[in-house]
Amino acid sequence: MVSPGVREFALTAREGTHDMGTGVATPTWGFNGDHLGPTLRARSGETVRVRVTNDLPEETTVHWHGMHLPAVMDGGPHQMIEPGGTWEPVWTIDQPAASLWYHPHPHGATEEHVYRGLAGMFWIDPDEGPDTRLPHRYGVDDVPVVVQDKRLDDDGELDLDDQGLEIGLLGDRVLANGTWGGHVEASTELLRLRLLNGSTARTYGLGFSDDRDFDVVATDGGLLERPVATTRVRLSPGERAEVVVRLAPAERVRLVSYGAELGDVVIPSVFGADDVIDVLEIRARDRLEPSPPVPEVLTSIERLDPSAADARREWELEGREINGQGMDMDRVDATVTAGALEQWTVRSRNPYPHNFHVHDVQFRVVAVDGAPPPPLLAGLKDTVYLEPHVSYDLLMRFGDHADPEHPYMFHCHLLLHEDDGMMGQFVVV
Ligand code: C2O
Ligand code: CU
Ligand code: CU
Repeated sequence: MVSPGVREFALTAREGTHDMGTGVATPTWGFNGDHLGPTLRARSGETVRVRVTNDLPEETTVHWHGMHLPAVMDGGPHQMIEPGGTWEPVWTIDQPAASLWYHPHPHGATEEHVYRGLAGMFWIDPDEGPDTRLPHRYGVDDVPVVVQDKRLDDDGELDLDDQGLEIGLLGDRVLANGTWGGHVEASTELLRLRLLNGSTARTYGLGFSDDRDFDVVATDGGLLERPVATTRVRLSPGERAEVVVRLAPAERVRLVSYGAELGDVVIPSVFGADDVIDVLEIRARDRLEPSPPVPEVLTSIERLDPSAADARREWELEGREINGQGMDMDRVDATVTAGALEQWTVRSRNPYPHNFHVHDVQFRVVAVDGAPPPPLLAGLKDTVYLEPHVSYDLLMRFGDHADPEHPYMFHCHLLLHEDDGMMGQFVVV
């Protein structure tokens, strides 16, 4: 029996094999299939119930990245599912429309579980149904694009050796939705791509092969107030951006990673920042259906006043530690009052890449080294790239799911760093 306002999903994590576009059956993991997972969709205000089954030979978890929900439903390292076991989180969606995602979070093994293929998107639709001002037909003019890099060995198996790289696994092929060298066919003038960096380590600078402008309409936690016209969007692991690109009939254009501007990173080539790699080809049909123009105003986002913060905290990321400490499942690093407004100042002290992700909340970047944030950081975010030695002031309002027993995580989303302990825990009380 499905009651109105309740969405039920079943996800089974299992082993399989998948041809990534190389002609070889690569052993992979997936949700409900051989590789990756279905896009789950629910409306703001609906109650979601997911039956998660673990058919893998080892324990795992499923975390709802970007979702505001009770800590015990969060799917972090405290909600392990044994092989053969099930877990059934339930929560009510209480946040704006956004492109979120889900992935495993077992402490010490997240990099490997995601790299093997466990990831999918979770789209929150507005409570009145799809936003018809923007392209919104799934798979037609509104397309998920999970961007991930992989390296295969000579036998066509995923190469799980990070070769001692400081940032972990860095692949030499970039896949879109699990396929290397793939394309989408476009039948409309405007195409909306919901880009997710689902990679373990690589940061992308995404743009089009002819350097055309496109509009960024949303970032991690939902719509920007106004579309931002640009030629590049930088996405570090875990970040999302929704872009709308205009197409001409019969044209072909490629979505390309031009390597990311990583700021002051030493030897960018070692971190993939010099790589120019095709991600996906777009093939426009000879005739394109007209699309309504992108609205000039998309939404309005509540202003948060830094001077009204109830608490301030500072987090320094260095090596594999935050504030000089590695992750300890039994240590709580911050106790937050339910409903509090907090300002977290975050900084990387390394000359190589880190980013910063906070569970449960969407934050606002209110300052970057004291200056107002660039337009692409001005919306709702749950993950932010940290340029080395630059400080980021993040302002966030914590929710009302008080639970002193179950912590939420905050961490670097370069998954090797997270696994190695660059993670802390907070409780909301
Ligand atoms: Cu995307 Cu703590 O995770
Ligand atoms: Cu998360
Ligand atoms: Cu890191």
